[in-house]
Amino acid sequence: MNTILQQLEDRREEARMGGGQRRIDAQHAKGKLTARERIDVLLDEGSFEEFDMFKAHRCTEFGMEETTIPGDGVITGWGTINGRMVYVFSQDFTVFGGSLSETHAEKICKIQEMALRNGAPVIGLNDSGGARIQEGVASLAGYADVFQNNVLASGVVPQISVIMGPCAGGAVYSPAMTDFIFMVRDSSYMFVTGPDVVKTVTNEVVTAEELGGAKTHTSKSSVADGSFEDDMEALMEVRRLFDFLPLNNREKAPVRPFFDDVARDEVSLDTLIPDNPNKPYDMKELITKIADEGDFYEIQEDFAKNILTGFVRMEGQTVGVVANQPMVLAGCLDIDSSRKAARFVRFCDAFEIPILTLVDVPGFLPGTGQEYGGVIKHGAKLLFAYGEATVPKVTVITRKAYGGAYDVMASKHLRGDYNYAWPTAEIAVMGAKGAVEILYRSELGDPEKIAARVADYEDRFANPFVAAEKGFIDEVIKPHNTRKRVCRAFASLRGKKLENPWKKHDNIPL
Ligand code: HXC
Repeated sequence: MNTILQQLEDRREEARMGGGQRRIDAQHAKGKLTARERIDVLLDEGSFEEFDMFKAHRCTEFGMEETTIPGDGVITGWGTINGRMVYVFSQDFTVFGGSLSETHAEKICKIQEMALRNGAPVIGLNDSGGARIQEGVASLAGYADVFQNNVLASGVVPQISVIMGPCAGGAVYSPAMTDFIFMVRDSSYMFVTGPDVVKTVTNEVVTAEELGGAKTHTSKSSVADGSFEDDMEALMEVRRLFDFLPLNNREKAPVRPFFDDVARDEVSLDTLIPDNPNKPYDMKELITKIADEGDFYEIQEDFAKNILTGFVRMEGQTVGVVANQPMVLAGCLDIDSSRKAARFVRFCDAFEIPILTLVDVPGFLPGTGQEYGGVIKHGAKLLFAYGEATVPKVTVITRKAYGGAYDVMASKHLRGDYNYAWPTAEIAVMGAKGAVEILYRSELGDPEKIAARVADYEDRFANPFVAAEKGFIDEVIKPHNTRKRVCRAFASLRGKKLENPWKKHDNIPL
């Protein structure tokens, strides 16, 4: 018996060595952890249960039958993060560059299918040279099987991708279909075709980093939701995000212990809004001041900074926050911010996470750049996302809520449950100056008359009371009370039930 156990241990040891010590050392020399070390950091200590440790490829081309490495370049299984179950795959760059073979794909598909059946999220740690070249179309088929499972799992269990090395060709499309993508700065990249192909086809000269590094994808393309300094930080931050999320679409997000007074007054919020309505202020300050312990997990921090998206907890419960940021483009909605927020709202709705919307929006950004780029269609994404969302929706208008953007930002008319406004709110079709210039065009030559008209318009419309009189605002609240009011609102909505009419699926303006 002892001999058999020893043989098992020897086989396991061989599998754990992946592509061998030389390649492990090379991985470390690049400042990267190995696939197994990454799993150790990501999961609770000792919780990992591995599958298919001995699975090997079946390829006989290019002399591959001489080189089979147990596990075939990907480590798969399940474990826990702070006691909650998660399925994981971690590609092993030391084995054929982490490239995806038919059997490598089968291993990933197995855990995707188990995650769907058992209602637990999937986290993929990607570090791969793409399709296993020696396997040809078999590896393309393997990719497609993974893609198909990504689609089936979308909206059922959260899917998170961490890009921790190369991710090229079709390999980018599995992460692209997951809910969140995180990258490691300076050691990961994603592109459909690499710099050499780009040079051949378009004559552009570009480095891998410029083409598909973390900076490009977090600030320009918006493909990635965040980036981190190194493997360690990325994995720890994914653990932090995981704690905000439910395990699947039928369970609520976990309620975490909190040590913050729900009724805490924040007197400083009474002076957050500057006297001059054209002066910006930092909306992040409001978010952190009303969240439990000031904790805000921001998503897409470096893209479309005119809108903020991310998770907080209120009374220990996860809440998704969408907030206009007056510090950037005066908080206008535009193509990028609409897309960013729409995707976030849809994630929250799919996974029953209540949404808090903080509004200070002067309108949609005007101009040919926006119109030619399709701001109508992209703005409609956010409108659509809010309109279809059935989760609890609480909205606070702090200052401007003008025009169509007022409607879009989780207004009462899009089934907002609690719509609050601060006394500083200005809710109207448009700003005073623009309105007067249209209504009193004939008086434009007389600055005094126009100034009086503007003052009159501001008196009558630049406040929350016209909307409150109509019941579009449920209550005008004091800024320092906001945490308490919002917490109570969400508490009262815990039993909310709202269903959309039956349909196969909707047709959101993509
Ligand atoms: C088989 C691969 C491989 C691949 C790397 N290796 N990529 N083996 N198939 N796709 C192997 C190398 O032979 C090498 O083996 C080891 O992995 C490490 O590779 P290096 O090149 O030495 O490492 P590095 O210099 O860090 O470069 C990494 C790399 C480069 C940038 C990823 O290897 C590379 O460009 N690979 C090819 C990328 C690619 O074109 N993939 C196909 C994309 S098309 P040894 O034995 O020497 O350690 C695609 C289509 C999918 O994916 C479509 C789905 C719809």
